[in-house]
Amino acid sequence: MVSAKPIVIGITGGSASGKTSVAKALCRQFASQSVLLQQDNYYKHSALPFAQREKINYDHPDAFDDDLLVQQLKALIAGKTIQRPVYDYQQHNRTDAVVAVASKTVIIVEGILVLADPALRQLMDIKVFVDTDADVRVLRRIQRDIATRGRSLESVIAQYLATVKPAYHAFIAPTKRYADIIIPEGGQNRVAVDLLSTKLQMIIQARSQ
Ligand code: C5P
Repeated sequence: MVSAKPIVIGITGGSASGKTSVAKALCRQFASQSVLLQQDNYYKHSALPFAQREKINYDHPDAFDDDLLVQQLKALIAGKTIQRPVYDYQQHNRTDAVVAVASKTVIIVEGILVLADPALRQLMDIKVFVDTDADVRVLRRIQRDIATRGRSLESVIAQYLATVKPAYHAFIAPTKRYADIIIPEGGQNRVAVDLLSTKLQMIIQARSQ
């Protein structure tokens, strides 16, 4: 249990924009006082066979179980421990596992569409959009998806053109208008991360008085 109401910070941006780096840099600053909730773990469970799961548009808001994310975020804000789902990118599905996540003073919610859902936005004290050029994002995504998500170069390119890029313009970029802060170049931007942590410290102090 935490005593003062936790602070919720939402961090979004295109795929491979550096939003996870920003989230993790903040987590490092607040160490045991913080918890990271990644929207990717809340992709909906699919009963479809693998060949069809491969073709799902994972950049569309309908791909996420935002109801569960909102429910679990509310529970964390209330000081409760949640059993969060675990996602497997190689299987394109949720696993059977769950992970116990305890409430902390700083709750960081990170994902491509965390500012797209009004119910989620309403729970956030600070909203951040990480803005990184498309060429940088696609190059990073190619490297990452081949190295860690079991993809081929051809499949990354095909997916990028078919769904990732159109969904960025249709659903992700428009959420920039909801951001309190726009950070260029994600986790590489030390000044922005330091400014954010200073602000978080101030809120923590004010709430604990
Ligand atoms: O970590 P990042 O924010 O890039 O994760 C979101 C991306 O993961 C989405 O752009 C989506 O295309 C991709 N994804 C995928 N295959 C899945 C689930 C998500 O390529 N099964």
